[in-house]
Amino acid sequence: MDKYKILFVCLGNICRSPAAHGVMQRLLEDEGLDAAVEVDSAGTYGGHQGQLPDHRMRRHASRRGYNLDHRSRPVTQSDFTAFDMIVAMDEANARDLKWMARTDITPKLVMMGDYLNPSTPHTYVPDPYYGGPEDFELALDLVEEACANLLTEIKNKL
Ligand code: 4NP
Repeated sequence: MDKYKILFVCLGNICRSPAAHGVMQRLLEDEGLDAAVEVDSAGTYGGHQGQLPDHRMRRHASRRGYNLDHRSRPVTQSDFTAFDMIVAMDEANARDLKWMARTDITPKLVMMGDYLNPSTPHTYVPDPYYGGPEDFELALDLVEEACANLLTEIKNKL
């Protein structure tokens, strides 16, 4: 059976999307679903290509038990066909993805914020890059919450 393929996208692919990638990978492994679902991440901006996640995100994630070792890469045209679901961290990411894609990606493009709990006072995952430690903690809180809810949806698709 073909794997269900999920791509997490942010701007630089060094903070939010590699965190989502690592968190989702862990959830899938914990549930024994890593053979059925593939996750990856990429950025709409390629300036950090080849880099490990930002050292602050790596440190905060490591305290929660995640080892983030993805190397940043830009989104490519083939991603728009290869992945079943493309998850944007914020509206700017979604707008950039729609602008980049030569096909209509609306059916597979979803917002990470749509998977947050209704009681959570955030509608997207804010960029922590220019922020402090609390911004990295918030990004991880939101990513963990959204990934758990996303996993519930994915299970229904398998
Ligand atoms: P990310 O954070 O999109 O969550 O990876 C950023 C990383 C780099 C930059 C901005 C946001 N930057 O301007 O270089």
